[in-house]
Amino acid sequence: MQDAAPKTIFLKDYTPFGWIIDDVHLTFRLHPSATRVISRIRFRPNPDATDRSFFLHGEALKPISAKVDGHEVALRHVDGGIEADVPDAPFNWEAEVEINPEANTALEGLYMSGGMYCTQCEAEGFRKITWYPDRPDVMAQFTVRIESDADHTPVMLSNGNGLYYHQDGTQTPAPNVSIYEDPWPKPAYLFALVAGDLVAHEDTFTTMSGRDVDLAIYVRPGDEHKCAFGMEALKKSMKWDEDVYGREYDLDEFNIVAVDDFNMGAMENKGLNIFNSSCVLASPETSTDGNFERIEAIIAHEYFHNWTGNRITCRDWFQLCLKEGLTVFRDAQFTADMRSEPVKRIDDVLALRARQFPEDQGPLSHPVRPESFQEINNFYTATVYEKGAEVIGMLKTLVGDAAYAKALDLYFDRHDGQACTIEDWIQVFEDSTDRDLSQFKLWYSQSGTPKVTVREDYRDNTFTLHLSQSSAPTPGQSEKLPQVIPVAVGLLNDNGDEVMPTKVLELTEAEQSFSFEGHATRPVPSILRGFSAPVTLEQGIDTARRSFLLSHDTDPFNRWEAGRMLARDSLLTSIRKDAAPNADYLEGLKTVLRDDTLDPAYRALMLAQPSQSELAGVLHQAGDIPDPAAIHAASEAMRDAKAQSWADILPGLYAANQVDGPYAPDAEGAGKRDLANSALGLLTRLDGGATAAKQYAKADNMTLQLAALSALLDAEAGDDALAAFYEQWRDDRLVIDKWFSLQVMHAKPDALAETTQRLTNHIDFDWKNPNRFRAVMGMLAAHHAGFHHESGAAYELLTDWLIKLDPVNPQTTARMCSAFQTWKRYDADRQSLIATQLGRIAGQPDLSRDTSEMITRIQGA
Ligand code: BES
Ligand code: ZN
Repeated sequence: MQDAAPKTIFLKDYTPFGWIIDDVHLTFRLHPSATRVISRIRFRPNPDATDRSFFLHGEALKPISAKVDGHEVALRHVDGGIEADVPDAPFNWEAEVEINPEANTALEGLYMSGGMYCTQCEAEGFRKITWYPDRPDVMAQFTVRIESDADHTPVMLSNGNGLYYHQDGTQTPAPNVSIYEDPWPKPAYLFALVAGDLVAHEDTFTTMSGRDVDLAIYVRPGDEHKCAFGMEALKKSMKWDEDVYGREYDLDEFNIVAVDDFNMGAMENKGLNIFNSSCVLASPETSTDGNFERIEAIIAHEYFHNWTGNRITCRDWFQLCLKEGLTVFRDAQFTADMRSEPVKRIDDVLALRARQFPEDQGPLSHPVRPESFQEINNFYTATVYEKGAEVIGMLKTLVGDAAYAKALDLYFDRHDGQACTIEDWIQVFEDSTDRDLSQFKLWYSQSGTPKVTVREDYRDNTFTLHLSQSSAPTPGQSEKLPQVIPVAVGLLNDNGDEVMPTKVLELTEAEQSFSFEGHATRPVPSILRGFSAPVTLEQGIDTARRSFLLSHDTDPFNRWEAGRMLARDSLLTSIRKDAAPNADYLEGLKTVLRDDTLDPAYRALMLAQPSQSELAGVLHQAGDIPDPAAIHAASEAMRDAKAQSWADILPGLYAANQVDGPYAPDAEGAGKRDLANSALGLLTRLDGGATAAKQYAKADNMTLQLAALSALLDAEAGDDALAAFYEQWRDDRLVIDKWFSLQVMHAKPDALAETTQRLTNHIDFDWKNPNRFRAVMGMLAAHHAGFHHESGAAYELLTDWLIKLDPVNPQTTARMCSAFQTWKRYDADRQSLIATQLGRIAGQPDLSRDTSEMITRIQGA
């Protein structure tokens, strides 16, 4: 529960902790409602600190005892923890507390999920387990002893290496005791414990220096058949980090556990990663190609944290992008290597525009390294993650691949075992490249999306690009300085041949010109290739130029982008002037779709069109007030026009991309299915669902089954299939999440609130489970035309549920408040409807700190 005045924490106030911890011994006596936690910690004075007062974090802990050097000590219970009088010399701390895992619905600290014990400590959950300096710059070696009733918890795991406990269970000191020792000093946020009736899918990996590592994925009995893919992804990740970054795994075992109740996707606890079951369990029958790809990426991400996050961690939570931005960048490199580089790049830019741009262009805008917060959980954002990864990518582009590799070696070498800052990270690049990166550092401190404007001119065989940059004011930042923007440019001639291969221009001034000499004819520039910087580009070019680039650009990203911009311009014209879709664009795209030399996955991306909320954002940026109903109508009209004007090629495209043989989740097959399913969506507009019904009937994998069901729902011919789907999958939670989502997604805009409301009365709407809550409420917010329906019914429904969830699970509630972050885009009536709902949330007694901070920031717009 919240204090009277929420406290703001500032980066500038950082001071080191007064004490150093050498080691920590924890004993857990597990009990669902009364777990005892005994901690034995050796403290000694920190010579680098001036403040030696003794404060330990603690929340919702029932004190049993506390001793200093064996003597009971008096505790002062203060805000967020305890204080005690301790000697100004090394001493032993011993404390016992009681906690209630069963009552822990917030899913932070030690909690129960489906009968098993599990933990989530990042960012500040360890303080709900025992009294401790719960801050990432306090690193210590942990030994953990777990005691339990062996009937219910045959498997008991923690970080590091199991001492007596082997995977066949034979060498445990007692049948109900397990001991783990982690030799690597770590902050408390990386602590983990899991105990329950679990089964393991096992394997081994031999590292580059020849050490054998025991690998296991632990799941509930019945899920064993969903582990194989995750295990392969883990081994690929381990090998890739050795090959590409020279990083070897450093323990004798590596365990992954799947849990059903989890706020986030997954967590990189040292040697014991804990995953939302939706992010690790996969089988062809129950998971889509998209699920498989995401699982591979997230397993890689959490594994890569072992070096970027765990061996080198963050000094404080303001430095979150140090581990998250870098690890997202690394997992993107991995996916590009495993699958298709251009397709991964396009997917990432789509995600950046869909999630980070709206954040950066609204009231929640903040720098990649924020300077203050009330609740750190609110800063695990698209800006810290995705823009944070873009910043690393720009750094690599600017210094070059070889210098990047050298800098990373220096980073691991210099900072292994430390808790670091962005300054440390930048220093490594300065030292290894002799570059001054002070201006580059603005990417970490300046919020907002810079706009780059281009003007071209050509005379005397010289082609010149005049580039300028500007950045609109963002909360707390009215004046912006020019940033270093790497602009990758290539030049083409009229035949589409490259007359200048990609070159990186460094835009560092507000206005700057770049000339290219010796061009006897006027070249066509391809600008911001590979999306070389997270900016918006104003090029002022016409449809003819875009069509030319759509057919000829040699950069796959920019070729796709040209098509995307044509689609966008056509849609904007339809929205503003009720005009028909641009026929030239449809013809140009048709040629691309028929080009069998192009990767099917890439063609599927070409076929997709800008989302309705992206269009609303673009209209808003252009000074218009978006009308959700008009945007919806224009988007539907575009799809109809595609179906009509491609009627002659769609059946062929669909047929040519069927995959023979048993299902495999590889990129090639997935690309074909994606293209075929995109074609199916359009075909359904012509055949009323006949092809989709056939696909549904014979589908032997979830990718085909779900796409067919989705097409049938679009054609309003899906009721029977929907009922059959439920009967088939009623016992599989992850599939039933899809069943819920699909119905929300396909509701007509004016029926959305009612449909969603009806689903919340369904017996399987287990709203305390974050996956289920998001499957329904996340989709409600994502349904642009329905969520922003003029009645305001969807705003109200979402608000009712946020208010209901907040006391149970503040973290998930707060994250979902961002559904309202774009409210200032819309007309006065909608703004006033949303303002009322924001006011209702803000007016709740005992609102969580998480939700209160989010609502205040959103209201502040
Ligand atoms: N460290 C995070 C998990 C986390 C996030 C813990 C917020 C506590 C609060 C983890 O490494 C992570 O980033 N997970 C992402 C997925 C990843 C592929 C970007 C997630 O959970 O969504
Ligand atoms: Zn992460």
